[in-house]
Amino acid sequence: ETALEQHRLNYHFSPKTSWMNDPNGMVYHNGTYHLFFQHNPDSNVWGPMHWGHATSTDLVHWEEQSIGLYPDSLGTIFSGSAVVDKDNTAGFGENALVAIFTHHNHAIEDARTGLHQYQSIAYSTDEGTTWTKYEGNPVLPNPGIWDFRDPKVMWHEATGRWIMTLATKQTVTFYSSPNLKVWTQLSEFGDGVGAHGGVWECPDLISFDHDGKEVWVLLVSINPGGPNGGSATQYFVGDFDGTTFTPYETEAKWLDYGRDNYAGVTWSNIDDRRVFIGWMNNWDYANVVPTGNWRGAATIARDLDVTSINGKWYVTSKPVPELENITELIHELQEQTADETSIKRVAGEVPSTYRLDFMAKADKDFTVKLRNDANEWVDIGYDAVAKQFFIDRRQSGNTSFKDNFASRDVAPRIGTDGSIRMSVFVDVASLELFADDGLTVMTEVFFPTTVYNDIILQGGDGQAFGDIKISRIASIWK
Ligand code: FRU
Repeated sequence: ETALEQHRLNYHFSPKTSWMNDPNGMVYHNGTYHLFFQHNPDSNVWGPMHWGHATSTDLVHWEEQSIGLYPDSLGTIFSGSAVVDKDNTAGFGENALVAIFTHHNHAIEDARTGLHQYQSIAYSTDEGTTWTKYEGNPVLPNPGIWDFRDPKVMWHEATGRWIMTLATKQTVTFYSSPNLKVWTQLSEFGDGVGAHGGVWECPDLISFDHDGKEVWVLLVSINPGGPNGGSATQYFVGDFDGTTFTPYETEAKWLDYGRDNYAGVTWSNIDDRRVFIGWMNNWDYANVVPTGNWRGAATIARDLDVTSINGKWYVTSKPVPELENITELIHELQEQTADETSIKRVAGEVPSTYRLDFMAKADKDFTVKLRNDANEWVDIGYDAVAKQFFIDRRQSGNTSFKDNFASRDVAPRIGTDGSIRMSVFVDVASLELFADDGLTVMTEVFFPTTVYNDIILQGGDGQAFGDIKISRIASIWK
C-alpha cells in the first residue's frame, strides 16, 4: 500500500484521485446503474464542484468514467438527481437522461450581491457520457432563500407530472412540472417537525408498497445536528397526495445513527426497489481524514423498506443481495459463551475485508472488538440496560487529525425480539452495522496503522453468541 493509496477501501466506491462528497444523479438505465458524485477533480479537499461519474451493472463493481458535469458561467455544480425522460416531456429526446442540479454561484455568494443557488438541468442522449446544459437555465430561479438546493426529481404517476423535492433552508419545498423546464411550487414541509440542529440538505421522497398500501418516506439530511454530532440523515414516514406530504409521526428518526452516512438518496427508474447509497463521511472532519491523494467514499448500496412496530413506522436498510457475489463464507462457529473469544485463535485467519454475522441475547451486554497487531481497536456492542448499540472508535488508530473525530456513538435498539441479529460489514477503514435486519444501522470510518486482523467476542454473564459466520468480501478493484 503506497502512501497515496492509504486506507483505500476494497469494496466501496471511491474516486481514483481527489475529493468526493454526496452521491448525485443516481439513475438506472439500460442495465447500467449510474452514480454521479460531488467531485473536486483538482484537489483532495472540497472546492469547485463537478459531477464525477461511475457506472456499475451490479451495484457492487464500479468503474469510474470521465467527468459528467463541469462548472459553467452560472456556477459550480452542486447536488441533484437524474431521471429517464421516457415520454420526451422535455423535448431532448425519448429516453433522454435529464440531470436536475443546483448551480452554485461563488461570485454572487462572495459579493453578497444576490442569491447564489438556483436549479438547472442538462441532458444526455449517449448513456450519460456527455451532457448538454439546457440554454434556458436556470429552470428554477432563487425566490429569496439563501439555502436553496439539492433537487431530487421523480415522476408522479397518479398526477402525471414531475415532482421536485428541494431543500429550502430548514424545510423541504415540493414543486411540480410537466416538462422539467417550468416549475410550480406546491407545498412546504418541515416547520416544527423533525430535527432542526442544522440546515436541511439532499432530500428524497420515495414510495413503498407495504402490503398493498402506498407508504411514502421523506429522507432529509441535516448538518449539523445529527444524533451523534455533525452530519446525519433523518426520515419521515407518511402520505403524499401529489401536492402535500403528511407525516404519520413528527419526531426525528435516523436512517443511520453512525457518524459516517450523509447526503444519501435512492436510484431513480428502478420500479420495485429503493436502492440507497450515502457519502461515508461527516462534515465535522471530512476535509482532513488521513487518506492518500483521494478523499471520500460511498457506503455500500442498501435496499430500503418500511415496517411498523408497535404502531410506529420505521425505515429498514439492508445490504443489497448483489454483495453476496463477492462474499465467501470462511468460518462458521459453534455457540460461544466465554468471557472472551478470539476468532483468530479459535477459527483462524481473519481477512482484512469481511462480513461478520451473529446472534446474541438482547437482555445481556456484549462487545465485539476489531483489533490489529498495533493494539488499536474499534468496539461495537450493545448495552442491554440502555437498550443501545454503540461504536467506540476512540482507540481505533489515527484519530488526531480532528478533535471531534474520536468518539463513542450510540443508537437505540428498535427491534423487540429476545435475540439480536447482527450483520457487520468491515472494510479496511470502515464498518457498517445492520442490527435486527436493518432496523438500527450505524456506519463509521476509522484509520488504523495496519488493518484489524482479529475479532474478539466479549460476552460472559450468561451472554451467548450464536450463528457466528465470517465471510471474506473480495476487492471490487482490478
Ligand atoms: C451536502 C451538500 C449539499 C450541496 C453539496 C455541495 O453534503 O452540502 O447540500 O449541494 O454538499 O458539495
